Amino acid sequence: CATHSIVQIPTPSVDNHNGRELKFIILIDYTPATWLSASESKWRTGSESTRTLWNLYLLPLTPNVWQEHDLNPFTSPPTHHTARYKELLASRKELPIYARMDDFFTVFHENQIVILAGEAGSGKTTQIPQFVAYSDLAHSRGKMIACTQPRRIAATSSAQRVAEEMDVELGHQVGYSIRFENKTTQGTFLKYMTDGMLLREAMNDPNLRKYSTIILDEVHERTLATDMLMGLLKSVAKRRAELKIIVMSATISAHKFQKYFSLGSDTEVPPVFKVPGRTHPVEIVYTQDLMKEPEHYVDAAIRTVVAIHRAEHPGDILLFLTGEEEIEMACSKIRHKVKCLIDLYPSSVGPIVCTPLYSSLEPIQQQRAFDPAPPARGPNHPPGRKVVVATNIAETSLTIDGIVYVVDPGFSKQKMYNPRTRGESLLVQPISKASAQQRAGRTGRTQPGKCFRLYTEEYFMSLEEQTCPEILRSNLSGMVLQLVKLGIQVKDLARFDYVDTPTPETLMRGIESLTFLKALDEDENLTPLGSMIGEFPLDPQLASLLVASPQFKCSEEILTITSMLSVPRIWVRPVDQKKEADQAKALFTVRGSDHLTLLNVYNQYVQNKSVEDWPETNFVSGRALVEAEKVRAQLQQLMGRFELELISITDKNKSYQSGGGYVTVKENHFAKLHPSYGGPELPEWVLFNEFIITGRSFLRTVSAVSPEWLLEIAPSYFNLRTFPDGKTRRALENLIEQKTAGSSNNFRSLYTMEDAVAN
Ligand code: CDP
Ligand code: MG
Repeated sequence: CATHSIVQIPTPSVDNHNGRELKFIILIDYTPATWLSASESKWRTGSESTRTLWNLYLLPLTPNVWQEHDLNPFTSPPTHHTARYKELLASRKELPIYARMDDFFTVFHENQIVILAGEAGSGKTTQIPQFVAYSDLAHSRGKMIACTQPRRIAATSSAQRVAEEMDVELGHQVGYSIRFENKTTQGTFLKYMTDGMLLREAMNDPNLRKYSTIILDEVHERTLATDMLMGLLKSVAKRRAELKIIVMSATISAHKFQKYFSLGSDTEVPPVFKVPGRTHPVEIVYTQDLMKEPEHYVDAAIRTVVAIHRAEHPGDILLFLTGEEEIEMACSKIRHKVKCLIDLYPSSVGPIVCTPLYSSLEPIQQQRAFDPAPPARGPNHPPGRKVVVATNIAETSLTIDGIVYVVDPGFSKQKMYNPRTRGESLLVQPISKASAQQRAGRTGRTQPGKCFRLYTEEYFMSLEEQTCPEILRSNLSGMVLQLVKLGIQVKDLARFDYVDTPTPETLMRGIESLTFLKALDEDENLTPLGSMIGEFPLDPQLASLLVASPQFKCSEEILTITSMLSVPRIWVRPVDQKKEADQAKALFTVRGSDHLTLLNVYNQYVQNKSVEDWPETNFVSGRALVEAEKVRAQLQQLMGRFELELISITDKNKSYQSGGGYVTVKENHFAKLHPSYGGPELPEWVLFNEFIITGRSFLRTVSAVSPEWLLEIAPSYFNLRTFPDGKTRRALENLIEQKTAGSSNNFRSLYTMEDAVAN
């Protein structure tokens, strides 16, 4: 058999295997994928008697054997590895984690939970799930491997990279699942996903049965969803002894997680598996004085980048800033300054490419951050340099190779929540020491590096040790709803096994807001409404708005607005075209309502789909709109599942006219507007010249009127004391009620005067 050379056959002892005597070990074929199909076809070729006698014995093979093999074990029928596979394999072997593969297998096999700590860039995210795939052969048992990421971009880009490394098509064997986007198929066995998505899956399958191994990545980020998953998995681990869990983090906080995941006795303390990181020194450069005006950190950062470009040895630069607008602005300033320098000193200043990197960037643009630096403009010219200006996303989730200089102004945007005011906001805040260390660690991986901290050493020493976990600085209503949906009683929420317990006040606020939304009843039990709200991948308030909208006959509009609120920024405002962008925005603006403005943009986008470049010429993000459309379709599907009707307020026929027509005010005669009426929309009230009856009734020669006019101009006709009951009377009563509540006009006096007359 061709496999003999690579298969280790265990001594076939006589074994009472599953109650049947094991007589033979048969090697059917030599890839796990075909083993699987052989086991499934249940020995179709064998006779009944041999089938009961023979057992299919799956032999675990060492992954390194498979990786070197010509055939891809994950494709069925097996395919030959491509040249690109071999090229990538060679570079993977350079990663620190690769050297520890065998040790990893030992630890993985011997323990249910493993804490894996390694510096960013050591290969955790891309390699560990593959090691598991080779060793666990989840697919041969119809199981899956999950690898969670706090950030969407990390989930999608890792999945893409790993599909390439495994020589399979993205979305097939390897896929990803993020909110509003699922790129997996039936055969997917390795799934990168956001932590929030796995949490959603747990709501419908609390034991997460479809997974044989769950890898929580970037747990040191301490997002709310990752924290909740840790609590959840700790209890699932007790119920499912065969489930394997790998908790991956940066080195700094590994022991905290080890302690947390200790399931009781000493023997159940999970091992910390350490992966060595960089081997080159990183020089830290502090400023001498603290910046007098810290808000000028962007300018200081730009100056530093330009100075590095002029004076330092070749090597790419990574600058950390806090958000999209700041980053785009910095990029264009850096480009401009370097261009001026090149004009002045063409032979001593090299070219640069300056690329932004933040999560709402289009994937193709994100990819540019990974492209190599530009070449020198000629022989004897200085080499080119790449400058990446990134958010915290480049701190640990994404690794850019070739970074030699890091510029760290010491700030990031963080979510803050104040339970007293119930306000949640994104604020630019000083980073923690741990963050600063991670940032510095982005260099020195392939050669010695330098990190420029735009603050003093004393300031660094004064920073918090760790970034405060999200659970301690967020609105918790979404978390409470999810935990309650997972079956935890509200009264037990305070005792849930948190890594860090939230303050009672914040928990209370979360419970309270769910009670306001009627997601919880007075006894704090989940209501059917609450259960429905929890199914929407939205903040409870937004979800509840959507669920309530059909009652207010505007679910179409609310659906659009909710979708627009769930995607990244719609408005595009390039630094050099601010005026044009503002003018374009003004054309969409509905005065007094940003929500309606968003609705307007979306509707116009849909109407102008056939117009090429419509988003660009109108300074809106085409990508955000496409995404809004996708989100809308998914939310609409969910609404359908709950039989929530789609009703539009602009469709007057449905909203407030009976059967698409009008009734005369006193007689309640029914009629429609004649087709000759020229208005684009149907007004609520009209005056007419002709009432024609030609089989059906029509009103002809019509003008829109305002009902206030009727009361003002014909008070005795519209005297409510004598007005017959019906739609019109009720509409007028409502109108008077509204106006008197406002009391800024003379309707009350009008009404009372008429009242007096009538009396
Ligand atoms: O998770 P960790 O930070 O330990 O490392 P990783 O994300 O697995 O990345 C290991 C290496 O894979 C990086 O240093 C890159 O060289 C490469 N990689 C890549 O080229 N493109 C990606 N999208 C992801 C990783
Ligand atoms: Mg990683």
